[in-house]
Amino acid sequence: MPHYNLREYPLQQGALEIAYIEEFFNEFPKRKTANEIMSRLEDRECQILMAEAPLDDGTVVPVSYKVSHELRENETDPALADLVERLKGSVVFTGRRILYNWLGATRLDWRGRGHFRALTEEQEAWAINLGFDEVVVKTKNRYYDMRGALDTLQFNVIKLEVAPDMMDAKVYLSKSLGLSVLDAHRSHRQVTRA
Ligand SMILES: CC(C)(COP(=O)(O)OP(=O)(O)OC[C@H]1O[C@@H](n2cnc3c(N)ncnc32)[C@H](O)[C@@H]1OP(=O)(O)O)[C@@H](O)C(=O)NCCC(=O)NCCS
Repeated sequence: MPHYNLREYPLQQGALEIAYIEEFFNEFPKRKTANEIMSRLEDRECQILMAEAPLDDGTVVPVSYKVSHELRENETDPALADLVERLKGSVVFTGRRILYNWLGATRLDWRGRGHFRALTEEQEAWAINLGFDEVVVKTKNRYYDMRGALDTLQFNVIKLEVAPDMMDAKVYLSKSLGLSVLDAHRSHRQVTRA
């Protein structure tokens, strides 16, 4: 497996970077603004990670990103409170630390080269070190690439919310974090903290 160069961003710089690249990396962009990203991530544990790789001319560019944050039992933000409500019954919050995979994608022409695995493995190592118990992610039936990747990365489906169009059904997945997760890691990574 090749070597991956990852960069971990502080909040403000990371929010600007993510707001900029989401539009170009993800064919289903929700077009989050830097302010939206900042306001969700400030005052909670979070991680903004990017993988970088050189173009043919040697210029190093971001090719994959992943943004995650802590999700608590008593969220006040309406969107997060709603998410917690939907997860209750599938995820135990009390006395446990839950990490939520909020945003992530790999640039189309860089897919299938292990960048998302490298980001995921770095995130898991970070989360285990901080004492997180479980990582949760939400997607939709229609996002087959993401579902395929999450399957390979050993996420379990914990809930399905049906919709009139089954392509829009929401799929919730999770992975328990324990030291054994690290045993499955394969990527060689170097992380720069910007
Ligand atoms: C999902 C996505 C992030 C994967 O990124 P990637 O950099 O290509 O992933 P990787 O190359 O690191 O692959 C990780 C593992 O998942 C597997 N995988 C990746 N895409 C897959 C797919 N479409 N189907 C099946 N498996 C897949 C890979 O084979 C790899 O397994 P391995 O490490 O055992 O060989 C990328 O396809 C993407 O950005 N998709 C659009 C984003 C999206 O769907 N957003 C919807 C909102 S949730």
